Amino acid sequence: MKSLNPSLYPVIFQRKSTRSYRERPIPDEQINQLQAFISEIIPLFPSEKAAFKIQPHKGNRMKISAYAISEPAAYFNLAFMMQQIDLFIQMSGMGSLWNGTIRATENEHQGLPYGICLVFGMPKENPVRTGINQFQRKPAEEISNKPELPFVDAVRLAPSTRNKQPWYLLCENKRIDLYCMKGGFLDRTLLQSLHWLDIGIAACHAVLALQKEGFSITVFSEPHPANQEGYRYCLSLKIERKQITNE
Ligand SMILES: Cc1cc2nc3c(=O)[nH]c(=O)nc-3n(C[C@H](O)[C@H](O)[C@H](O)COP(=O)(O)O)c2cc1C
Repeated sequence: MKSLNPSLYPVIFQRKSTRSYRERPIPDEQINQLQAFISEIIPLFPSEKAAFKIQPHKGNRMKISAYAISEPAAYFNLAFMMQQIDLFIQMSGMGSLWNGTIRATENEHQGLPYGICLVFGMPKENPVRTGINQFQRKPAEEISNKPELPFVDAVRLAPSTRNKQPWYLLCENKRIDLYCMKGGFLDRTLLQSLHWLDIGIAACHAVLALQKEGFSITVFSEPHPANQEGYRYCLSLKIERKQITNE
């Protein structure tokens, strides 16, 4: 997989959702920079189709509507890309919020159905956390068999639907298998597709952290995944140390 923008990595440890915004409009220059960034985001699965559209929202807020077919791989990919946008927005001093409840302005774009949006704008308060203790998250032991690995923390802090953090990371032999909790009735029905997005977000944070550690990554799907009680297998990352050459 190509390298994600490495300046997104430190934002993982500071970001937070913004729910109150100033009346000030977003400067045109910031919108242009965002548009340029969106044209360069890296997909998780290049074969999956995804489209993004910047649109006005309420007041001086804007939103990025994201489009893909509602299937696991397409949604893992969509959220993997959208989370790069979330981190970029927050890196640029704006605030953002993933929002699964806002209705689409346009139900279709580039032949793809509407999936989710990210609202953004000029935040009322600085949208930055100054310490990891300000994140309300599960302990690393609950989300991985190797909680001591540094990249696990980057996944642990990722945003998720209702802050449910549905991910589990099974790490063995230079590979990471990513699982999603089956959960209760709501998780398996109404929230199912949102949890696919949560997994794409987790994969984005994992890849940023692993690339920062100097690994190159190959994404693949294991045909015979290990059984993980209460979880459903989603995707795997094969990790290899990058070769250092003297040339
Ligand atoms: C796929 C997805 C959908 C979300 N939908 C909503 C939403 O509809 N309304 C809302 O207020 N927050 C929504 N959130 C934001 C989460 O509640 C928030 O990320 C989580 O509580 C963690 O907080 P943080 O982002 O400040 O770290 C959503 C997050 C994700 C990842």
